[in-house]
Amino acid sequence: MENNKNQTGVYKNINSYYIDNPDGLSVCIIEINRPEVKNALNTETMTEIMDVLEQVDNDDSTGCTVITGSREAFSAGADIKEMAEAGAIDIYLKDRFAVWDKLRKIKKPFIAAVSGYALGGGCELAMACDLIIASESAKFGQPEINLAVIPGAGGTQRLTRAVGKGKAMEMILTGKMFSGKEMFDAGLVSVLTREDEYMNEALKTAIEISNKPSIAVQLAKESILKSFELSLNEGIEFERKNFYLLFASEDKFEGMKAFIEKRKPVWKHK
Ligand code: HXC
Repeated sequence: MENNKNQTGVYKNINSYYIDNPDGLSVCIIEINRPEVKNALNTETMTEIMDVLEQVDNDDSTGCTVITGSREAFSAGADIKEMAEAGAIDIYLKDRFAVWDKLRKIKKPFIAAVSGYALGGGCELAMACDLIIASESAKFGQPEINLAVIPGAGGTQRLTRAVGKGKAMEMILTGKMFSGKEMFDAGLVSVLTREDEYMNEALKTAIEISNKPSIAVQLAKESILKSFELSLNEGIEFERKNFYLLFASEDKFEGMKAFIEKRKPVWKHK
């Protein structure tokens, strides 16, 4: 698989490429690559990440993306040097964080593969992903309080929903770091791996997802994310509409027919 790496484009702050998957849609990998600042996320880096995620959404031959950093740092957060001189009006007018909002519009799943530091905006980027696969020694934290600010890319909301009020308060008010193991126990991390296994595990999961019929994957993701916005009743109605919608896909007929004929389905992803 490693032999078939096709670059998604040339970027300054990330490496990104597609990996062929003989059994299904290909997988896209995004590696944040700013080692000199522990993969801090400046606006340009976030814009490049978004560019690739949008590319994947528009590419019928790719099913899922993995976002990762290095073994030492997934990301140490928003680039403090970029924010240090900014005033409120400046940050409002430049709308530096608008790119973060676009993450919510991405239809295909993207997975965070975390090793090392996932701090501040780095932790928030991981939480904006659909699932987090982390090594035991990963270090998660929301240290913004030490800079006299608070998480600004969804941290107070997503962390609280994932780990509950008490743990979110502890993390955000103390700014302390917590290991991958602690965050797995708290419910933030979906899969915990040994030190060197996080990327293999993320790739394995991404391939499993990419082997599934993509429209159903996308509507499942959309329905799960809606559960954060809607009441139970509204959420179930939303889910039902997406369930009905899938009866308009060719894959639904193929999936059920293949089951009855006791053979492997051949997905068209439409
Ligand atoms: C800019 C950063 C950075 C960051 C590290 N660096 N984190 N630069 N923004 N978030 C730079 C350092 O300035 C230093 O540059 C180099 O990376 C190496 O970092 P060191 O501190 O020397 O390394 P180390 O002692 O190993 O400590 C690693 C660390 C520490 C624990 C990750 O760097 C750290 O605490 N970083 C800041 C973490 C943080 O507060 N994150 C939240 C940011 S606010 P030089 O030039 O000295 O070599 C945020 C708000 C989000 O994320 C809002 C919404 C997007």
